[in-house]
Amino acid sequence: MPQNIRIAPSILAADFAAMGEEIRAVDQAGADYIHVDVMDGHFVPNLTIGPPVIAKLRPHSAKTFDVHLMITPVDPLLDAFAEAGADILTVHPEAGPHVHRSLQRIKALGKKAGISLNPATPADAVDHVLDLVDLVLVMSVNPGFGGQSFIPSALDKIKTLRAKIDATGRTIDLEVDGGITAETAPQAIAAGADVLVAGSAVFTGDAAAYATNIATLRG
Ligand code: DX5
Ligand code: ZN
Repeated sequence: MPQNIRIAPSILAADFAAMGEEIRAVDQAGADYIHVDVMDGHFVPNLTIGPPVIAKLRPHSAKTFDVHLMITPVDPLLDAFAEAGADILTVHPEAGPHVHRSLQRIKALGKKAGISLNPATPADAVDHVLDLVDLVLVMSVNPGFGGQSFIPSALDKIKTLRAKIDATGRTIDLEVDGGITAETAPQAIAAGADVLVAGSAVFTGDAAAYATNIATLRG
């Protein structure tokens, strides 16, 4: 069955001083999800935004807000991100002592739950939580910054996870994040990814270019 490829522009690469406008622009340009990178300067060496800013951005698009939490501890803030308007909340297993509990909490909040695997985190980290998740995120760079190069070993991990997801018979997004370009997107899709996060490759040129940038990644 052909994959339903979705593109999730990462607003990390957008103009933070004009974020509402940038989100409206990628929405109109054909984005499927709006990928929001939340960083705490602790779990990752960079800082971005938190729930109050997401709440202000929320009215600018009706598309799925795909919120990637790179913060630790993550549990005390899950409710606030849900209230701010996140549709998907994705956590890293390293970001709390009990990732199963974090995922349970996200589901209890009525949100879609994602688990994110760093480049060195093995695919089998999902084995005992697959029944709880709606999305598996494969990091193809080390988290913290946009504009890094795709780490090729992510492709084997995507293949492994595609088989695990298919074996469940459930609908679970297989998302890849980091270094996605016109060159790496087809490789990630061939390996089995069906949601592509892209920051730099989408927010290049002016808003008029965003539609072309997104269409190019979709293939
Ligand atoms: C990195 C973030 C990514 C990043 C991707 O920690 O999770 O979402 O914004 O940026 P590009 O597409 O430029 O690699
Ligand atoms: Zn991300």
